[in-house]
Parts: sequence; C-alpha cells; structure tokens
Amino acid sequence: MRVLSQRVGFPLVVFDCDFNNESISDISLPEGAVIYTTLSVCEVKGLGEQFIKNLIKLKPRLVVHLEAAYLDRKETLIDIMVTKYIKLNDYNTNFDISLNKLSKEGVINIHHRYYNIMGRNPLRPVSLYIWSPN
Ligand SMILES: C[S@@+](CC[C@H](N)C(=O)[O-])C[C@H]1O[C@@H](n2cnc3c(N)ncnc32)[C@H](O)[C@@H]1O
Repeated sequence: MRVLSQRVGFPLVVFDCDFNNESISDISLPEGAVIYTTLSVCEVKGLGEQFIKNLIKLKPRLVVHLEAAYLDRKETLIDIMVTKYIKLNDYNTNFDISLNKLSKEGVINIHHRYYNIMGRNPLRPVSLYIWSPN
C-alpha cells in the first residue's frame, strides 16, 4: 500500500493492526469512513461478532469485505471440498454466521451479499459483503 500510494501520489496512512485486539476500535479513523478488508478476516479463526462490534465502534458509513466465506453447504461436490479445505487450513468458519446474526438482531444492515463471486483458488472462493451499522 505504501508503494502504491507513492506511485499514484495519493497520501495514505498505513499501519499494522490485529483484528483480535479490541483496541482496533481505538484507531483514529474519521467518522463515516468506508472500511474495506480483503482476504484477511477469513484467515483469522474465530473472528466474528466481537470483531464486527469493534468495527461498529469506529462509526463507519459502510463496511466492505471481499473474503472467503465458510458456508455450511453440502449440496455439491465443490461445496464439500470448499468446506473441507477451509477446515483443514484452520481458516475462519464463523464470520458469515456472525454477520447474519447481527443482521437479524438489527445491529447491522447487510446491503449486498454475493457468495463465491471470484477467486484464483477454486477451493477458496471469495464473497462480497457490504454492510453498515444501524
Ligand atoms: C492472504 S493475505 C491478504 C493480504 C491483502 N489483504 C491482499 O488481499 O492481498 C492475508 C493477510 O491477513 C493478515 N492477517 C492475518 N491475521 C491477522 C490478524 N489477526 N489481524 C490483522 N490482519 C491479519 C496478514 O497480515 C495478511 O496480510
């Protein structure tokens, strides 16, 4: 991101953070920001409701995830292979469930959710989620 921002002449602040750390909600982010993650939430086992609630504390306008979702579907052979692959690699299995739960509780509003829309690895297809806090 640093290299990219220099090349296009767009100033970006880049820093490390740990999604598991509650202090993620203390970062200095302007209210009404758009938060975007890609293929990183899905790497962290167990990340779910608390992480989403920590993001909500940042008062974003919109949150966009391009992440590999674990869907408990066993309708096709590829479904079975994908779920097995995610489990064998110890990836996240509860992020999709957590978003759905918070949506049902009215905590967030999921504007768009498109499952398995892209991805280089067929065993780890990427889904798009766009949501905002209520
Ligand atoms: C497959 S890479 C994706 C990198 C980049 N987002 C992309 O799309 O090219 C997974 C990323 O997840 C990040 N990651 C893994 N565990 C994390 C955690 N607990 N908190 C924050 N980021 C984490 C890693 O640092 C790594 O950059």
